[in-house]
Amino acid sequence: MLNQAHLLWKRLMYVSALPFILTSLPSLAEDAGALYNTPYDVSLGERYFERQCSRCHGFDAKGNDETGAPDLTGRLNRASNEVGIFNVIRNGVPGTAMLPVDSDLPDTQVWQLVAYIESLRYDPNSVQLDGSADSGLALFQGKGECASCHMVRGNGGRLGPDLSRVGESTRPEDLMVAITNPHEDVDPRWWTLEITGPDGITRSGFRMGEDSFSVRIMDTDSNLWSYQKNDIRSIERIERSTMPSYDGSMSENELDDLVAYLFSLRREEN
Ligand code: HEC
Ligand code: HEC
Repeated sequence: MLNQAHLLWKRLMYVSALPFILTSLPSLAEDAGALYNTPYDVSLGERYFERQCSRCHGFDAKGNDETGAPDLTGRLNRASNEVGIFNVIRNGVPGTAMLPVDSDLPDTQVWQLVAYIESLRYDPNSVQLDGSADSGLALFQGKGECASCHMVRGNGGRLGPDLSRVGESTRPEDLMVAITNPHEDVDPRWWTLEITGPDGITRSGFRMGEDSFSVRIMDTDSNLWSYQKNDIRSIERIERSTMPSYDGSMSENELDDLVAYLFSLRREEN
């Protein structure tokens, strides 16, 4: 009796679990890819690539005839999307010099490699944008006051990330999200701490450094404040962006112009 019930239970589990696994696994994997493709992830992926992959694929990832490792900057043979690239890196290509990565390597790092490879395959010249980069530049420095927070090639503020090369690693649709919905996906580097010190005064700023005993923040006037943790009366972490949303304060055309300008920001060719 017990056994029969057990068997039935197992069968039910099997029948109900299978479609769930089949339909949800690929989308989970894609979600994971979308989580680890910020410019920061791309740069970590690049660093790892230089150490572990470049000896075969070359520093520029353009392949190497001697090792037989193919060019990774164009269309790939063995993968047509991020999940496919992930699988090639994770499992290798059996019977070739392309070995699986170390099984201890966390998925996060494999996704960062994928993000780096994806960033190479992205040909900016193939992208058609509605906006004008020149008008976008004028908005960036003028009406939008973006430059008060963002640095581009050494000019601008430090209250947001340096955007000098943001176009290399960020797609136009993601740039649009960054401007219209800045609170999505805020990197911890840009979270705000609100700290009430022993003097009862509350100050807020970006978290610049922290150890077991102390924490340092930088306020919007670029003043640094350092607190001993056991002196702090209260501390609150705000995970929203300090950047305002421009959805509404800019017209659709203006938003397109800003995206076109940001997308044009890449490494300067000498
Ligand atoms: C020992 C040399 C070697 C090393 C190291 C190596 N690869 Fe490869 N890789 C190859 C070869 C050879 C192939 C082609 C395999 C085949 O398809 O026949 C390949 C294929 C690939 C492909 C598929 C290309 C396509 O067109 O589909 C990807 C992606 C890739 N490698 C990424 C990486 C990454 C990322 C690393 C570092 C973690 C790495 N490789 C390290 C030799 C290497
Ligand atoms: C008050 C300061 C401030 C202003 C003004 C501001 N930003 Fe930002 N911006 C930030 C901060 C902080 C972040 C990082 C947190 C986040 O992702 O929102 C950021 C993030 C971004 C990002 C994402 C960068 C990345 O590496 O992913 C883009 C793109 C951007 N801002 C563009 C703009 C544009 C265009 C304007 C003007 C229309 C603007 N910002 C105005 C502070 C500002």
